[in-house]
Amino acid sequence: MKLTAAQKKYQTQIISIIQQQLASNYSHTLTKFSYLDKGTNYFLQLMDYPEYHTYHNEIHLIEKIIPSLNKTVGSSKKQLEIIDLGPGNGKKSAMVLSGLSTNSINYKAFDISKTMLNNAQKTHQTLLNIAAKKYYLCDFTNLKKLNKTLHPLTANNTNMLIMLLGNTLANEPDMYVFLTNLKSLFTSLQSKETFLLIGIELYSENSISIINQYDNNINRDLTFFPLKMLNINKDSGKIVITLNKSRQRIEEKFIFTSNQQLNIGEKTINFQNGDELLLSVTNKPTLNTIKKISKKSGWHVHTIEQGKKQALIYLTLANEILPSTH
Ligand SMILES: C[S@@+](CC[C@H](N)C(=O)[O-])C[C@H]1O[C@@H](n2cnc3c(N)ncnc32)[C@H](O)[C@@H]1O
Repeated sequence: MKLTAAQKKYQTQIISIIQQQLASNYSHTLTKFSYLDKGTNYFLQLMDYPEYHTYHNEIHLIEKIIPSLNKTVGSSKKQLEIIDLGPGNGKKSAMVLSGLSTNSINYKAFDISKTMLNNAQKTHQTLLNIAAKKYYLCDFTNLKKLNKTLHPLTANNTNMLIMLLGNTLANEPDMYVFLTNLKSLFTSLQSKETFLLIGIELYSENSISIINQYDNNINRDLTFFPLKMLNINKDSGKIVITLNKSRQRIEEKFIFTSNQQLNIGEKTINFQNGDELLLSVTNKPTLNTIKKISKKSGWHVHTIEQGKKQALIYLTLANEILPSTH
């Protein structure tokens, strides 16, 4: 497989994570690299997959939360900055923005994948009637870089709505660390009021229906994509998708079924039969767990819009607690 510039750029990081995992350190996964280039197409196809309930359920919850969003951020006469971390196909952000009655919105999308950003931009061109839209190629887990990109962009004294929709937060292996980092970053930006909208799938014991959502060829191609970038053959192992009940998360692993040697530049990695790579996790906390994590990381839970399997949670920075609707 010939590598694109984006894939070359991230190859060293992928190798480093694999080496950590082979040394039993599973604190990082490969999810974010799945969306680069062609990975975007797998993701977009997954959105149309009937068993992939998350997407459609969340669209429904967004419709329901708009009135409450409007009461807090939407009705303000102040300028509203919207920071969309991982816009995907752009449809959800289009829905949120179209539903807000604020006159003055500045929308900024940040994504690791240029192809994804182009896609979101295309959706917004047809569905969004606001002029101030910008798209930044950025790995948002690289907080220094995100900070650098955000600082000159954001004017003090505006309200800010950050969006982490569609399991983007849930794909972070440590949601507490991620939320804590976001809290420090956005506190330092000194916006007037800061709101964070997160989409999360809720924990359920019914592992069969949960796993069915993930266990299809498109999702397997998406999850395996970072290894494909290294020319690892899918037939050298198997993808195993399980619900880890004690950690309340879906785990997608690649388990080698033969010994393999991988040579990349000067590096050689030897995989043994039975070696496990953790490609992706999707946290599925209970409502109580996510409330606790939010509180501990410095966020205040303002509103919860809950469906059967999913929730949209609307948070504010803990030091700017507004009258809660929850
Ligand atoms: C699970 S998808 C959700 C997409 C969209 N928010 C939705 O709800 O349909 C995750 C999105 O975040 C982007 N993404 C994931 N990890 C990222 C990272 N570390 N930095 C920047 N973008 C990332 C992906 O390219 C993708 O657009």
